Amino acid sequence: MSMSWRFFIHFTHLPLVQRAVYTGTLLTLGLGYLFAMIYVVANHAGRDGDPMLSVNDIVIAYSGSNEGTVLEGALKGAMSNMLPAEENIAIVNWVREGNSEEAYNSTIKKIIDKRCVACHNDRNPHIPSLQSFDKVMHTAEKDTGMNIFTLVRVSHIHLFGLTFIFFIVSSIFSHAYMRHEWLKVVIVSIPFIAIVFDIASWYITKVFQPFAWVVIISGAMMGMSFAVQFITSIWQMWFYQLPAEAETQARATVLDAGRG
Ligand code: HEC
Repeated sequence: MSMSWRFFIHFTHLPLVQRAVYTGTLLTLGLGYLFAMIYVVANHAGRDGDPMLSVNDIVIAYSGSNEGTVLEGALKGAMSNMLPAEENIAIVNWVREGNSEEAYNSTIKKIIDKRCVACHNDRNPHIPSLQSFDKVMHTAEKDTGMNIFTLVRVSHIHLFGLTFIFFIVSSIFSHAYMRHEWLKVVIVSIPFIAIVFDIASWYITKVFQPFAWVVIISGAMMGMSFAVQFITSIWQMWFYQLPAEAETQARATVLDAGRG
């Protein structure tokens, strides 16, 4: 019996209540993960004009776009369903054609007042106000991507939040049985490495755009590790028969621990 088995207690040897807690925790975290994915897609997809999420969308989100402005980026992305397509095109064309104040007063102001100012007004400090020409112009300047302050804020939230999530998920998953223990170690280590790569590459993408790929690959690795841990844990908790030799070893471990 190798040392690594010593304190290993398989799911099937845990009390029912502990498995219930684990299952509830995994299900709610899984739901949270799903909503996080929906948010990421809704927030990034379509920035480059194509509605699918692509590397280009990530590049534009972090490093900005040579063509577009924040206003245009928002109109193609998260804000695109706030107004009919004709009005959307009218604003985009106005921006591209050099956003003159006359055109603003004759056509654009009406659209923005009707479709945007309910949320984008001077009373809401969290999103850009669109209540006057000057303020609209502020969002129609060249898009330089997410600013450093926002990145720093999102970085610390991600570092704390994801560490909590993966600490919980991998603590649960540590009760799973895999023939090779090193494989479990690899699976639980991936997210922690990926978090660091992910966040570092947000900043690097600002200056070196191919790093958008690292953002995508590390996100995918994190997601895969989460999925493997989630599925393996639920499966082995409720539907799994430990192989005979593992059963013997696990029982010996439980007895060992009992003897102290
Ligand atoms: C229902 C409320 C609501 C309406 C209506 C709305 N927005 Fe927004 N807008 C938001 C929120 C909330 C955010 C910030 C969250 C986000 O970026 O997804 C935002 C963000 C933005 C941003 C900033 C994007 C960035 O990357 O910083 C722009 C520009 C914008 N909206 C333009 C518009 C325009 C133009 C309209 C009208 C066609 C509009 N919005 C209508 C709620 C609204």
